[in-house]
Amino acid sequence: MAFSYALAATVLCLILPPLVILYRIVRVRVPGPLRPQTLLLGTLLDKKYIPDLFTRHRSLATLQSDYGKTLRVVGPLGKVMVMFTGSIPKWFSGRDLDSGREGVNHLLPRSILGLPLGPEWSRHRRAIAPLFSAKSLEAQLPHILVACRELVDSNLAEAGVSDLYPVIGAWALDIIGNVAFGHEFGALVGAKSGKESRYATAAAGLNADILRRFAKGPFASLDRAACAKATADMEVFRETAAEIIRASAAPTAPEALRSSFVARLAHKEKLAPEDCIQESVSLLIAGHETSSNTACWILHLLASNPEEQAKCRAEADMSPATPSYQDFLAMTTLVGAVYEALRLYTIIIGPAKKMTRDDQIPGVPKNTYVLPNKTVMARCPMQFPSPDKFDCSRYVKGQHGRMGEPHCPFGAGPRICVGYALAQLELVALLHAVLRRYELFPAGPGYPEPREHVLVTNGPRESGLFLKLVPR
Ligand code: HEM
Repeated sequence: MAFSYALAATVLCLILPPLVILYRIVRVRVPGPLRPQTLLLGTLLDKKYIPDLFTRHRSLATLQSDYGKTLRVVGPLGKVMVMFTGSIPKWFSGRDLDSGREGVNHLLPRSILGLPLGPEWSRHRRAIAPLFSAKSLEAQLPHILVACRELVDSNLAEAGVSDLYPVIGAWALDIIGNVAFGHEFGALVGAKSGKESRYATAAAGLNADILRRFAKGPFASLDRAACAKATADMEVFRETAAEIIRASAAPTAPEALRSSFVARLAHKEKLAPEDCIQESVSLLIAGHETSSNTACWILHLLASNPEEQAKCRAEADMSPATPSYQDFLAMTTLVGAVYEALRLYTIIIGPAKKMTRDDQIPGVPKNTYVLPNKTVMARCPMQFPSPDKFDCSRYVKGQHGRMGEPHCPFGAGPRICVGYALAQLELVALLHAVLRRYELFPAGPGYPEPREHVLVTNGPRESGLFLKLVPR
C-alpha cells in the first residue's frame, strides 16, 4: 500500500509537471497570421541563447534574424510567448486583445495600469485621457520648466564628469510629483544633497515590488516582509494623494493643487478616492522610469554623436529661452532626438498581448503571450535607411509616425500609452535646457560605458550614465 502511494507521489511530482509543460508548449501551433516560421527555443533561462537576461531583447533580435520572423519562446514552467517581427498586423491592435500586466495588477488593481480591459478600465481611461490633452499639458508646463531649470542650475552646476543616471531619475520624479500629485517630491534636492527624498525611496520600493511579483507570480504573496514593505511604500503616496484631494476641495485652494491630476480625477471626473489614489500612483509608475531612462539614452546618443548634438543645439538656441507648449512641439529636431532614442533603445520590451480566449488568433491558445520584437522592427532598413545611425532628422523626413510607429515604443491598441504627449514634452524641455547650457561629451577612459539593463524598463542602472558636461 505504502509503495503504491509512493509510486503515485513520484508520478505526480516527477512525471506530470514535465508532461504538462510539454503539452503547453506543443499546443501552440502558431499557424494563420503568424506564419511562415516557428522555432521552438529552449527556455528564456537558456544561457546558450540568452547569455544575459538583462539584455535579452538584443539576444532575441539576433535569434530572430537567424531563425525567422516568428519565434516561439518558452519561459520557465512552460509559459509560451510568441514573438514576431515585420510590421504590426491589424489584429494586434484589436480592441479585445489585452496587454499582460502581471506585477502591477496586484499593486494597483483599481488603476488603468492594473485593470483588465472592460467597462471599468474604459471608465478610468476616459477620465484620464483628458489629463494629457494639449490644454491640460500647457497648464502643467511651468512644473516641467521648473524641474529642468533646477536640474541645469543646481544639480548639473558643477559640470565635469559625473553619473547623470540618479539625477535624471530625480528630475522625472519631481515632474510627476507636481503634475500628478500637485506636490513637491524634493527628489532633485535630495539627489544634490545626497539625502534621498522619501518619495524617491518609496518609488524605488514600488518598482522593486512590481518586479518581484512579475518574477515570482502567485508565490510573491508568501514573502510577508516584502509585502509589508510594499504596503508601507504605497502608504507614502496614498497619504500624500489623500491630503491633496482633501486640500484641493477648498474653494480657496491654490491653482497648482486644483489642476493636479489627482485633484481633477477626484473633483471633476468624480472617481472614488481610492481609485484616484491608485491612478496617481499608476501614472508615477508608468511615467517615471520610462521617461528618465529615455532621457538617459538621448543624452548618451547626443554625447556620442557631436554632429547631431550640434543640430539639436542650433534648434534649442534659436528657440525662446522660456518656450511655450507650441514652441516645444515645433522643435522637430529635438522631437526627432527623442524618437531616435526610443528607436535605438527598446525602453519597454512589451507590450505582450495575452490571449484571453482560445483561438483569438487561430491556433494560439488562451494564456499565450504574443508580442512584437520592437528591437528588430526599430532597425528595419526598409523603414529606416542606415538603421544604426542616430539621425534626428528622420522625424522630419517622416520615417517615424506620430508616436514612433512602426516600432511602437508606446505600445499599440486600446491600451496604448496614455501619457506619451507628457513624455515627449518633458524630454524635449530637458534637451532644450541642457543643450543651451552645456556641451556633452563621453566621459572618456576610466569610466564605464553606459550599458542596457532591462528590468521593467531599460536603463543604464548598473553602469550609470557617466558623461562630461562642459559649460558653454
Ligand atoms: C518615453 C516614455 C514612455 C514610454 C516609452 C511609454 C511606453 C508605454 C508602453 C509600451 C505602454 C504599454 C501599452 C500597451 O500595453 O499596449 C504604456 C502604457 C501606459 N503608459 Fe506609458 N510610456 C512612457 C511615458 C509615460 C508617461 C510620462 C505616462 C504618464 C505620466 C505614462 C502612462 C502610461 C499609462 C497610464 C499606461 C497604461 C495605459 C493603459 O493600460 O490603458 N507613460 N506606456
